[in-house]
Amino acid sequence: MGIENIPRTIWWEDGKVRMVDQSRLPLVGDLLECDVYEGVCWAIRGMAVRGAPALGVAAALGVAAWVANQSGEIADHDMFIGELDRVAGEIAATRPTAVNLLWGAERMRRFARDNADLPLPELREAIVQEALNIAAEDEQRNRELGRHGAELIEAGSAILTHCNAGSLATAYFGTALGVIFTAHEQGKVKHVWVDETRPVLQGARLTAWELMVAGIPCALITDNMAASIMRAGGVHAVVVGADRIAANGDVANKIGTYGLAVLAREHGIPFYVAAPTSTIDLTIGSGSDIPIEERPGEEVTGMSFSATFEAPNPEARAAFDALTAQGPFDLELSRGHKLRVTPKGGAFQIDGWARVAPLNVPVYNPAFDVTPAEFVTAIITERGVVRPDYTTSLALHGFGSGGIHEIVVE
Ligand code: MRU
Repeated sequence: MGIENIPRTIWWEDGKVRMVDQSRLPLVGDLLECDVYEGVCWAIRGMAVRGAPALGVAAALGVAAWVANQSGEIADHDMFIGELDRVAGEIAATRPTAVNLLWGAERMRRFARDNADLPLPELREAIVQEALNIAAEDEQRNRELGRHGAELIEAGSAILTHCNAGSLATAYFGTALGVIFTAHEQGKVKHVWVDETRPVLQGARLTAWELMVAGIPCALITDNMAASIMRAGGVHAVVVGADRIAANGDVANKIGTYGLAVLAREHGIPFYVAAPTSTIDLTIGSGSDIPIEERPGEEVTGMSFSATFEAPNPEARAAFDALTAQGPFDLELSRGHKLRVTPKGGAFQIDGWARVAPLNVPVYNPAFDVTPAEFVTAIITERGVVRPDYTTSLALHGFGSGGIHEIVVE
């Protein structure tokens, strides 16, 4: 046990982007490898990589994949820069809410422009190195953020968190969980309440797993349990991450965050937002201008599941072997339920989706909500702790990913 046993989220190896496939964790721990930027776009859309800071790193490494493996034919500088702009814009457009995605793409685009006088082979190498710097800086920032945030946590605290703002949501270490990991090392964390975070269950699948790997006492709860636990005095602080923070301190984060903030205020519990400065978008005045992603209805009308299993007896083994003799086997099921069985090194993997709602029910599935700044006790970044009035305090500190609006999002 210990946080060192949490796998890295996304990294560069042998000229390729590698990542843990978070869409199937924790019961299937596949690694994905992308040597073309389209693969990174696909991984972002499918939430194999997710969480705002990790998306910033993915954007940078996606551009690096294009530079290292797909730009070799281009001999002209202007054409190279123009194509890199297009690729960065395409990656930035994969998901709309987390500003880090735009920030990572924009930083790569700017770096290429600022160094455009280098011969192309050197420019290519320098751009890949810049992507590696972005990944390394992210971990560094989270560790600093963790130290600042831990100062706010009192000894013996029970902390509630929502979604996954853990190591898996960043290059490494995490933001909200970075605060919790650091405070736990200091002996101040008694217990963590983990919201399951419907519909995609990042809390149940990722946060609960990270805390257990780290050896931190925790309990998984459904999202509708927070209120009664708070009323019973069971929560001393709420710590969450953020996908975008506007200039006035309004915070976009996983759907359900706003409700927690209202509950925290009603029960006199501090509500902390932990995010690196790359999540602060000073080009947006308030939360009402933050684009909120709407995701497919299937996330709400049913449950996805993935797991590996071993056949319980020789008969079952023979049956599953026969089923998968030609490779993955897709079972056609009624009512849209889906089931795929895949042979996996002597065992089997099952990936499915089961409908729980009536066929054709209309669905609304916003992935994020906005918590007004007035509900946020403090924002914790790698540069320190910022308190209201945020319009003044964020601007005074010169925070923000400024200039991201220059990126072309199609
Ligand atoms: O849809 P996701 O899983 O990308 O949403 C993630 C969140 O909302 C996190 O809380 C946020 O990105 C902060 S991660 C440090």
